[in-house]
Amino acid sequence: MSAVPVQSNQSLEQQSYAPEVEAARKPDYPVHPLILNRWSPRSYEQREVSDDTLFTVLEAARWAPSGGNQQPWRFYVARTEAEHEQFRKFIKPRNRLWADKAPVLLLVASVTVKENGDPLGAHAFDAGAAWATLAFQARLLGLSTRAIGGFEHDIARETLQVPDSVALHAVIALGYRGDASALDESFREAEQPNGRRPLADSLLPIPAGE
Ligand SMILES: Cc1cc2nc3c(=O)[nH]c(=O)nc-3n(C[C@H](O)[C@H](O)[C@H](O)COP(=O)(O)O)c2cc1C
Repeated sequence: MSAVPVQSNQSLEQQSYAPEVEAARKPDYPVHPLILNRWSPRSYEQREVSDDTLFTVLEAARWAPSGGNQQPWRFYVARTEAEHEQFRKFIKPRNRLWADKAPVLLLVASVTVKENGDPLGAHAFDAGAAWATLAFQARLLGLSTRAIGGFEHDIARETLQVPDSVALHAVIALGYRGDASALDESFREAEQPNGRRPLADSLLPIPAGE
């Protein structure tokens, strides 16, 4: 698969690696370029994300698979200054150094029980599928995402009045990628796609049966 240069903020061609990805990421086996083109920059342009774009990104999450099609994912979406102010109360200081500039922040949550009170055992797994689906759709639209696990769960629960039956997972920064030079200096060097350990290291052996 050859590289066709694309601007990071443009919609991606179907079969091309973004230039910075071509330089940094090599798949062991061929996968669609979208898989490697999704990475997590910290720098965001001060550019609004339109309603259509935001709702398309969320729509993608809606179509993620889930156990029993229970769709346990839920999202708190911060777009206005007042909503961002609420999120700033619980995002940890080091993450705030960059996340404060993201035009949209989404808190990915999931309901942990069915209406009848039975537990939804796969709620976290399903919320993860929703986040991944959302991230790929965002990338297809020329946007970046970065998940943030570094937030104060207790403060988030209190600030957003999160019911006990809802679990909180990660804040997702969403927006158009900005220039690395706008980042706090301590983040600039890491503002590039990272790698992965070999696939074989993720495969666990199945013991022989009796
Ligand atoms: C659940 C989760 C929590 C994360 N928390 C943070 C965080 O608090 N701060 C941060 O800068 N990045 C965070 N990340 C981003 C990861 O470091 C990043 O996804 C990982 O290094 C892989 O890089 P890539 O997304 O660019 O492929 C988080 C990612 C996930 C999925």
